[in-house]
Amino acid sequence: MFAPDFSTFDQVMKVAKTLADFESARKSLGDKTVGFVPTMGALHEGHASLIRRAVAECDAVVVSDFVNPTQFNNKTDFETYPRILDQDCAFVEAIGAAVLFAPRVEDIYPAGTDYDQRIFDLGGLDQYGEGPRRPGHFNGMAQVVTRLFDIVRPDRAYFGEKDFQQLAIIEYFVKNLHYPIEIVRCPIARAEDGLALSSRNKLLTPAQRAAAPHIYACIRQTANMVGKMPVAEAVRKTTELIDAEPQLRTEYVEIINSLNLRPVSSWDEAEHLRLTCAVYAGEVRLIDNIALK
Ligand code: PAJ
Repeated sequence: MFAPDFSTFDQVMKVAKTLADFESARKSLGDKTVGFVPTMGALHEGHASLIRRAVAECDAVVVSDFVNPTQFNNKTDFETYPRILDQDCAFVEAIGAAVLFAPRVEDIYPAGTDYDQRIFDLGGLDQYGEGPRRPGHFNGMAQVVTRLFDIVRPDRAYFGEKDFQQLAIIEYFVKNLHYPIEIVRCPIARAEDGLALSSRNKLLTPAQRAAAPHIYACIRQTANMVGKMPVAEAVRKTTELIDAEPQLRTEYVEIINSLNLRPVSSWDEAEHLRLTCAVYAGEVRLIDNIALK
C-alpha cells in the first residue's frame, strides 16, 4: 500500500507577518545553519534561483518579503511596485524554505518615526552607477538589510548579481560592521530571450516586453568591442545600439572596475571589468549588467 512520506511534513513553511511571529519561528530553527534570501516580493525565477541555492546549502532557509519604503526615491515606483503575497507564499513553500517573513512597516521601523535616520558608510561605492541617479536608494537599502540581518541572524545571505552595485555595497558594510554572515553571490537569471528577470517586468506592456530583450542582446555585443576601440566609444556605440529600439531609452551605460565600481577610461585599467546600464521602457526602469573581462 502507498505510504505517505511524513518526513516532508516538518518542512511545512511558516509564514510570519509580525516580528513576534518571526521571533518564535526563528527560535524553532535552533542552531541550524540558516540561509537568508531578502526580497521585495513579486517573486520570479530569479528569486527562485537564490532560494534553491540556499535550500541546497543550508539546513533552513528564511525568505523575507518586504517592499522597503526607504529605498524608493520615487513615490510612484513605490506605490506601483507589484505586491502578490499569497502567490509568493505558495512559490517559496514549493521551493522548500522554512520561513517566509513578511513584516509590517512598523516591525521594521519603529512606529511614529520617520522610518530610519541612520546614515551608512558605503565606502564610496554609491558614487557612480545607480547611486547619483537614485539619491538615498543605497542608504535605504542598507537600513533595511542591516535591520533584517539583526532580526533573522543568518549564517549565510544570498544576493543576485542582477543588482551588481547593491551586492558590492552589502559586502562592504558586512565587512565594515563585522557581521558574522557569509554573503553568497548568485548569477543573473534570464528569460529564454535574454531579458534579466525582474519584478518590474510585470509592469511592461506587451510591446515593451517584446523590445526589452534587446538590452541584453546589445550589451553582449560590447564584450566583442573590448580592446578594439576606446572605452568611451564602446559606451557610445552600446548606447546607440540600445536606443535604436524605439521602445527603449538608455539612462546610462558605464564600463566599470568590478571591484571598486568606478568607471574606467581604458581597458587595461582594471583586471575585471563590468558593463552596467539602466534603460527605460516607457516609465519602467530596467537595469542589467555583464562581465566584460
Ligand atoms: P528584489 O529586487 O526583490 O531582489 C531580491 C534579490 O533577488 C536580490 O538579491 C536581487 O539581486 C535578486 N534578483 C532579482 N532578480 C534576479 C535575477 N534575475 N537573477 C538573479 N538574482 C536576482 O534587491 C532587493 O529586492 C532589495 O533591494 C532588498 C535586498 C530585498 C532590500 O530591500
